[in-house]
Amino acid sequence: MEKLNGEERAPTMEKIKDACENWGFFELVNHGISHELMDTVERLTKEHYNKNPRSRTRSQEGYEKEFAEKLEKLAEQLLDLLCENVGLEKGYLKKAFYGSKGPTFGTKVSNYPPCPRPELIKGLRAHTDAGGIILLFQDNKVSGLQLLKDGEWIDVPPMKHSIVINIGDQLEVITNGKYKSVMHRVIAQPDGNRMSIASFYNPGSDAVMYPAPALVDKEDDQQKQVYPKFVFEDYMKLYAGLKFQAKEPRFEAMKAMESAVNLGPIANNLSSLLQERRLCLCELRC
Ligand code: OGA
Ligand code: NI
Repeated sequence: MEKLNGEERAPTMEKIKDACENWGFFELVNHGISHELMDTVERLTKEHYNKNPRSRTRSQEGYEKEFAEKLEKLAEQLLDLLCENVGLEKGYLKKAFYGSKGPTFGTKVSNYPPCPRPELIKGLRAHTDAGGIILLFQDNKVSGLQLLKDGEWIDVPPMKHSIVINIGDQLEVITNGKYKSVMHRVIAQPDGNRMSIASFYNPGSDAVMYPAPALVDKEDDQQKQVYPKFVFEDYMKLYAGLKFQAKEPRFEAMKAMESAVNLGPIANNLSSLLQERRLCLCELRC
């Protein structure tokens, strides 16, 4: 990221663009978050887990907060780089995520214990992330994260003090598919516990998601209206039941809901039915 401040800005922006368009993932170094803080957070998180392997509580040190604040700032900085690359005005993505109460930022600590027969279990099944942009601080020794690229699973290797960034479904919607959320998973390892801290920079619950008009207008007719318009909270309700499935049926279901809402009160009941019972799209069609 340091290169963004100097002569190498243009090729670095190109790299980020290529990553967003073709990988859905990139690994950031020289991101400005101090290595000392990262080491401290990693040490405390691991110590806490070793003492309380079954507990879901966090260590109550202030470092974790400090770290989360830095990551949130970094997420906003990245959103603006993405705006620049994709051809949106600065601040567009942050604004799109704002809703009435601002974006949400959440952090999830995970531990993946070793398994002597890793082929028998799944650490974290394949999925795309539902939200905006995700920042992952992963264990610098124990690997396991993989992304799907052209039908093949590719390792996202640990790199000390790096932060792995990936694109969530909402950025795919807003960029009208220019940037893609990519399937990823965590496979179990035979040796060593893997720790990860995933931070999710997501739209506020009432933020309305839709492809940025500036990007849609440029497309030819076929590409114009591929993504639906919906309230982020509705998407999350659907995602809760369909996380480990492909994202396309989720977009389809939101599209069906969108046309149902446009049809008026009868169809509105249908859309609440869809939410309440988590009906899938094929049932709705029937
Ligand atoms: C996730 C995720 C990866 C990891 O929580 O959505 O992909 O390494 N986590 O824990
Ligand atoms: Ni994920």
